[in-house]
Amino acid sequence: MALFVTAPASAGTTLGASAAEKGRYFGTAVAAYKLSENAYTTILNREFNMVTPENEMKIDATEPQQGRFSYASSEQIVNHARSRGMQVRGHTLAWHGQQPGWMQSMEGTALRTAMLNHITQVATHFKGQIYSWDVVNEAFADGNSGGRRDSNLQRTGNDWIEAAFRAARAADPGAKLCYNDYNTDNWTWAKTQGVYNMVRDFKARGVPIDCVGFQSHFNNDSPYASNYRTTLSSFAALGVDVQITELDIQGASADTYRRVVEDCLAVARCNGITVWGIRDSDSWRASQTPLLFNSNGSKKPAYDAVLAALNNGTTPPTTAPPTSVPPTTAPPTTAPPTTPPPGQGGCTATVTVNQWTGGFVANVRVTAGSSALNGWTVTITLPSGATVTNSWSANSSGTTGTTNWTNVSYNGRVGAGQSTEFGFQGTGTVGSPSPTCAAS
Ligand code: XIL
Repeated sequence: MALFVTAPASAGTTLGASAAEKGRYFGTAVAAYKLSENAYTTILNREFNMVTPENEMKIDATEPQQGRFSYASSEQIVNHARSRGMQVRGHTLAWHGQQPGWMQSMEGTALRTAMLNHITQVATHFKGQIYSWDVVNEAFADGNSGGRRDSNLQRTGNDWIEAAFRAARAADPGAKLCYNDYNTDNWTWAKTQGVYNMVRDFKARGVPIDCVGFQSHFNNDSPYASNYRTTLSSFAALGVDVQITELDIQGASADTYRRVVEDCLAVARCNGITVWGIRDSDSWRASQTPLLFNSNGSKKPAYDAVLAALNNGTTPPTTAPPTSVPPTTAPPTTAPPTTPPPGQGGCTATVTVNQWTGGFVANVRVTAGSSALNGWTVTITLPSGATVTNSWSANSSGTTGTTNWTNVSYNGRVGAGQSTEFGFQGTGTVGSPSPTCAAS
């Protein structure tokens, strides 16, 4: 006599299949050099339907020397995945980390050009093969500022992120374009609000962004918080997808893994979950044993919790848990960016300064008044001792004292109420200049 125990039709038996039944994916980070290991690929091929190259698509891997592109290990992963019906998250096109030496030593216009070329080349190379790209990774600062992280890319001008997204969209219009970061999971953290404000601004101004990646490396310093669902749903309400991109949890609490899955399932625009490695021994934080499989490949209690949560989950949730309701009142730090009132001369300018001992970077935002600009001139008087050494996205008349800045060919035309940015870098102390703007 044969006994057949059949699972309910809706219950998958692997992470990928169960997520798929909920219209989502379940992915993992993959290292190319492990693809020859049987124990590794057995679990990978059985459980996952999304793959992120753990290091192979980073800038140092894909452009080790300037202008020389190298795709062997990234293609190995892409081909392994796609030939088995798995999709690929591209990671990452622009980042302060894991830059090749030649890029680390670059600044200013040369770096901006090199970054855009890198994005164009790599996104074009993989065009049509990438589900979503982490276009920009980790651009915000930790701590309470809610602002950008200083980096050579940031110093090319505050618009480097939107420039990166535009280049990626032009190169591969079929890929979802994500901003990806860590410590952005807790809704009350300043960094989360900083990214939220940027995404809201991008959506308002038509910068091409489709998704936000939450790395979700949870540990004692950055623990899972019950407002995680609020974070996911609040970003989704801006009109972007949300993805959990690098999940690992120190100690791999089954309960915490379950809650993360439930939070994703509760948010319609949460596309899927990627864990940052397969077995604990594959983790970048192996000593924290943060993953779903033991080093010997056996399933941990966290695995069972995740699978059960995927199978039990409903979309949308039958009863909306209180925390899934997006905040009805805007959180204090999310006030819309203040747009300067239109000036009599047809435009206004504001300066944001990043000053350190002996040097500074100034970003200038030019905003058109009630009618469109066909060209503009911004005048900025520098205090004595301040000297401009480098600038971008504007032509300048001088380097000290009263400096005049005029548009370059591509940013003279600014629609009514719209803005464009330029910037400059210098030595000395710039103070808080009061720019004037005139239409030309
Ligand atoms: C990590 C990899 O897992 C390591 O192998 C590598 O040595 C360093 O980078 N945030 C990210 C990932 O976006 O790219 C990082 O991956 C982990 C943190």
